[in-house]
Amino acid sequence: MKSFLVDQDGYYGEFGGAYVPEILHKCVEELTSKYLEVIESKEFKKEFDQLLRDYVGRPSPLYPAQRLSEKYGCKLYLKREDLNHTGAHKINNTIGQILLARRMGKKRIIAETGAGQHGVATATVCALMNMECIVYMGKTDVERQHINVEKMKMLGATVIPVTSGNMTLKDSTNEAIRDWCCHPADTYYIIGSTVGPHPYPDMVARLQSVISEEIKKQLQEKEGRDYPDYLIACVGGGSNAAGTIYHYINDERVGIILAEAGGKGIETGMTAATIQLGKMGIIHGARTYVIQNEDGQIEEPYSISAGLDYPGIGPIHANLAAQSRANVLAINDDEAIEAAYELTKFEGIIPALESAHALGALKKLKFKPEDIVVLTVSGRGDKDIETYLSFNEQL
Ligand SMILES: Cc1ncc(COP(=O)(O)O)c(C=O)c1O
Repeated sequence: MKSFLVDQDGYYGEFGGAYVPEILHKCVEELTSKYLEVIESKEFKKEFDQLLRDYVGRPSPLYPAQRLSEKYGCKLYLKREDLNHTGAHKINNTIGQILLARRMGKKRIIAETGAGQHGVATATVCALMNMECIVYMGKTDVERQHINVEKMKMLGATVIPVTSGNMTLKDSTNEAIRDWCCHPADTYYIIGSTVGPHPYPDMVARLQSVISEEIKKQLQEKEGRDYPDYLIACVGGGSNAAGTIYHYINDERVGIILAEAGGKGIETGMTAATIQLGKMGIIHGARTYVIQNEDGQIEEPYSISAGLDYPGIGPIHANLAAQSRANVLAINDDEAIEAAYELTKFEGIIPALESAHALGALKKLKFKPEDIVVLTVSGRGDKDIETYLSFNEQL
């Protein structure tokens, strides 16, 4: 089987690469020449592992979900990234990148955020390392995720609301890249997902791969074999999914199911289902599927979930879909909400709206009773309580 990991030129098949303006060329080259040497060094690994254990609280549990297993007729395990410090998988990546930024002598940290989880995770590690932090966030997201905005401020970050476009994740990423262009020498841009120019998609996937490293060990202990039949995760840019599948990506025994945001339905025009609807294009420095109109202009995406509301997709996942290595399902807003209520009632776990899309995939799949299924709960639902309640009132 061919490899689905990145090649030496920074591509996944025909997806990926680094398409950046001249002014950023040097920064991206510097990063490309340093990242592997640093993150594979013994000294980095020691500090990273220690922080993941003592600060984040890893390993995160692999929880056998008894009642949901009965309902869906399989052995369902939940990988509990919601139990990490700051409430999602995002912190795995920000710890890794801030350790790298420090080693590269950078003093000023910038980030984009959608749901606010990556912003909070970045503000958290900046507080920990005593570094300046600026977070760009679309105004729409500032309003729908205001608790995370308050957390970022309390952690000492400057949150800049972005008012261009539909004021969501795409627009905050544009602004962060603009900032980076203005301060290329002293600034490190912590990208929150497997998006952006090479080496970001590969770097973020590697830093998140702790998720599948743990799944291997935990399944060995619980099931006497270190691989599942299926892995399920939601995809916005794709970082929790990349971490979940990383160590299984070339293992044909393991089926990969990715859940993207269908919004109000992929035929309605109010959707963020990039893999189903996107065409090849370039977004934020990478060649990948992009939701665009006939003139190649990026269309405004829509999802009830701020973290999945993105018109592009990580090149690693675009390639998995193009090569039919992954089965990609679009889960609509109402299906995700229903799945979130189901997890809450069956297992006593309130998931993030993003993770609820992965849970919504369960209804669309057929399992054998002996199938081992691992689904990543990428974050907890505290930030989404108001959305859940308002949806419930409408029912
Ligand atoms: C809890 C949670 N899950 C998933 C995502 C989607 O990002 P990614 O596809 O990079 O995992 C986000 C993004 O904000 C998030 O907050």
